[in-house]
Amino acid sequence: MSLVLPEPPSGIETPAVYIDLDVVDANIERMQASLAHSGVSLGPHMKSHKSVNLARRQLEAGAAGITVSSVGEAEVFAEAGFDDIFVAYTVWAGNPLRGKRIRDLHEHVRSFSIGVDSVAGAQQLALATQGSPRPLRVLVEIDSGAHRTGVPPHEAGDLAAECLRLGLDVAGIFTYAGHAGKSRDARPEGAADEVQAAEQAIASFSAQGVPVGIVSAGSTPTAHFSSRAPMTELRPGEYIFNDADNVRLGTCESLADVGLLVATTVVSTAVEGQVIIDAGTKVLGREGNPDKGFGLVPSIPGSFLRLLNEHHGYLSIPDGVERPSVGDVLTVVPNHACPVANLFDEYVVLRGGSGIGRWPVDARGHLS
Ligand SMILES: Cc1ncc(COP(=O)(O)O)c(C=O)c1O
Repeated sequence: MSLVLPEPPSGIETPAVYIDLDVVDANIERMQASLAHSGVSLGPHMKSHKSVNLARRQLEAGAAGITVSSVGEAEVFAEAGFDDIFVAYTVWAGNPLRGKRIRDLHEHVRSFSIGVDSVAGAQQLALATQGSPRPLRVLVEIDSGAHRTGVPPHEAGDLAAECLRLGLDVAGIFTYAGHAGKSRDARPEGAADEVQAAEQAIASFSAQGVPVGIVSAGSTPTAHFSSRAPMTELRPGEYIFNDADNVRLGTCESLADVGLLVATTVVSTAVEGQVIIDAGTKVLGREGNPDKGFGLVPSIPGSFLRLLNEHHGYLSIPDGVERPSVGDVLTVVPNHACPVANLFDEYVVLRGGSGIGRWPVDARGHLS
């Protein structure tokens, strides 16, 4: 994995996160093109970038709507004018403040829907939107093997029927095969699980006489394999940036496809044998392990970010390789881009190798 990555603009204060718009646009185009003749629409997940500017680029390229993971994220994008928003999360609407915010979104966003995987959750959503001019749209979440959330596929119809009895509008089903991100082989297997689970859920809906409109699946690791019937929509997020994990999984070709990078500075070499950079967990998140490290520094062959404290990253350099000096600026490729985006207020934006400005990470911190 050795490669020359775009340099951060000179004079930049670190740590900073910078995005290469040429790479980002190519990533957006590639995903959109891969769905071109599939009959499957794209509802990219905003959790990966939380940026209104980047979301607009995804819509301009052909995305049908957007996916978010919290009511707060939905509010930020609704405020910016986005009118097709799916909260792919089993939000608990029992808190009165939360219930009111959901109702406001439901009544002001042209197409607004939300995930559900329990009768209790559905009851709270129904209560929160009782008396609205139209019923709240929900999608039943099914578990396709990640075993995180979602009802067993064969029980999806029962929950759908209950949602209808509660006065909700059941638009369809959604699933997320998180287990597909474990390895290269797990990708097609996870996608096959999504398809199989969706087919079972459709049969279960049909047994209850409930029509299925939307059949929505995740994710960057599975998108290539699950862009086919019965899916009607995919919700990948990470593909816009990619990261070291996506290179390992083969969801993108190489580090040249990574559009989000972290600029760091060597701040200490005082302890014998150690190189310390100003990027710890408060910059890179905790994504990593002692085997693969906590991020890559491609400009130093064989180097290894072996440990992170909050504000310090420990960079191991192999014997015989030139060591960086205090003050040197290094580029880190994160293992996972999404948590990094969530840790910064703004992106430094590069186009054609030059800095063109800073964009806010608009939905940062809007977690509730
Ligand atoms: C429900 C749901 N949908 C879609 C995605 C997008 O997956 P990815 O970021 O791997 O593309 C996620 C990611 O966590 C998710 O939780």
